[in-house]
Amino acid sequence: MPLPASIAADRDWWRHAVVYQIYPRSFADSNGDGVGDINGIRSRLPYLAGLGIDAIWINPWYPSPMKDAGYDVSDYRAIEPVFGTMADAEALLAEAHDAGIRVILDIVPNHTSDQHRWFQAALAAGPGSPERDRFIFRDGRGPGGNEPPNDWMSEFGGPAWTRVTEADGRPGQWYLRLFAPEQPDVNWNHPDIHAEFEQTLRFWFDRGVDGFRIDVAHGLVKDADLRDLGGLTFPLPADAPEDVQHPHWDQPGVHDVFREWRSVADSYAEPKAFCGEIWVSRDHRLTAYLRPDELHTAFNFNFLQSPWRPADLRRVITSTLASHAGVGAPATWVLGNHDVCRPASRYARPQELVRAGFPNLHSYLGLPADPALGLRRARAAALLSLALPGAAYVYAGEELGLPEVEDIPDDARQDPMFAGTGGENVGRDGCRVPLPWTTGGESFGFSPEGSAAPWLPQSSDWGRYSAEAAEGDPASTLGLYRRALALRAELPALGDGDLAWVEAGPDVLAFTRDPGFGCWVNFGDAPVALPEGSSVLLASHDLVGGRLAPDSAAWLQFA
Ligand code: NOJ
Repeated sequence: MPLPASIAADRDWWRHAVVYQIYPRSFADSNGDGVGDINGIRSRLPYLAGLGIDAIWINPWYPSPMKDAGYDVSDYRAIEPVFGTMADAEALLAEAHDAGIRVILDIVPNHTSDQHRWFQAALAAGPGSPERDRFIFRDGRGPGGNEPPNDWMSEFGGPAWTRVTEADGRPGQWYLRLFAPEQPDVNWNHPDIHAEFEQTLRFWFDRGVDGFRIDVAHGLVKDADLRDLGGLTFPLPADAPEDVQHPHWDQPGVHDVFREWRSVADSYAEPKAFCGEIWVSRDHRLTAYLRPDELHTAFNFNFLQSPWRPADLRRVITSTLASHAGVGAPATWVLGNHDVCRPASRYARPQELVRAGFPNLHSYLGLPADPALGLRRARAAALLSLALPGAAYVYAGEELGLPEVEDIPDDARQDPMFAGTGGENVGRDGCRVPLPWTTGGESFGFSPEGSAAPWLPQSSDWGRYSAEAAEGDPASTLGLYRRALALRAELPALGDGDLAWVEAGPDVLAFTRDPGFGCWVNFGDAPVALPEGSSVLLASHDLVGGRLAPDSAAWLQFA
């Protein structure tokens, strides 16, 4: 079905879109099984249209044994029954488009589920078979092949290899799985893999999908000899020589895959777009993926990981814009997602105490928290990120100011990161708790009354963050997002483009954008004056005697 004229004309939509991320398990449950679903998303399309977003990105909705919440895909061209049917998916696509909202799916090309037909065939076919060659099977090292083939480690803890039992009942080969044991990595040196994923892209593009978020995009290609890490960690330090190459992240060969994918996207009359999940810290290695014949966009994780400090943020913003300009790609501005601690809880911590490393709750637990301060900063961060040049991402619940749920009981935790690290890392469940829609009710409106319990327990005070509570509160975070998105749609200065920094003191981040727009953010302890000749369009906190309050941001108009 063609796109409605209202959005079809915007061919560069991905350069300035505000993309709202929907974690389908946690968004809205229509059938009462305690797990969100496609019809739940459909029921909330009026809410999304009212919020003013341009697109939704839906985390994997394909058939999956759910060993990693859907990132273990057993069939890339069907719908997981827990989420609904293909008819539901097609209805959602049509209805979203009618509401002026584009739809981005999540594609998982680094690994399949161990229940995928190809992996099952590989297990059955045995060592040396063409079926095994679609994955990364190797003999073990040491006596009896009892040691993993190399020293690579899983992102979820422990060695990145799992040993299989062969048909004769004896311990056999090992297969690579950089994530859970049920997520075998595929072999991107195999032509079948290229053909299979190209067909998958086309399958969904043909159904009207507007783009894909690409899971672990920097991981697809592995060192040809599977050489040991030998202590090498990742991301590489900023000053690492160019010839230092990690054996399984950001290998040069990965770019060939995305050139193929770009030509698939470009073969469509309507503008399809990719966004890569690429965890590389060095800008030039990120923007290498955004050359004109590769991906359209990538998540800006350096921005997400920056402490709430003006100098750090300014450094990240400046280097992001410069590096992206070098390849002609728009930047993206990301505050959260389903893998990291929610921004309201990250910013609640003393920023100088935050531990380095992956920014999930593990890096923040145990640090003193000031939730009111965290929310105040998250609201300022929202105005900052929505004012910066490029596209922006909003993870469902950010517009409600949702905090991380930090006290999920161990026996309710679902994330394989928790089990894989023997409980050392609490994992990512705290940012995946089902959303509150109403102030009361058994699941705060997530499921119909009388349903199964939500798949993760909600906090007892969840109702105060609900969309319903926000409706009655003129100062709500939801209202702030709505006004910001409406202004962003209206003001020609916002979206794609450029900015000019204004020096407004060490505690202030300030920039202008043409025509006539300014964004001022106060990181200090005292109110600061706003510039002469400006009027306030929107502020994340009440002004104090006409001055910008601490830990708040304002959007300004210059006459
Ligand atoms: C990144 C996804 O965002 C995360 O949720 C998942 O566990 C890993 N990739 C593995 O697919």
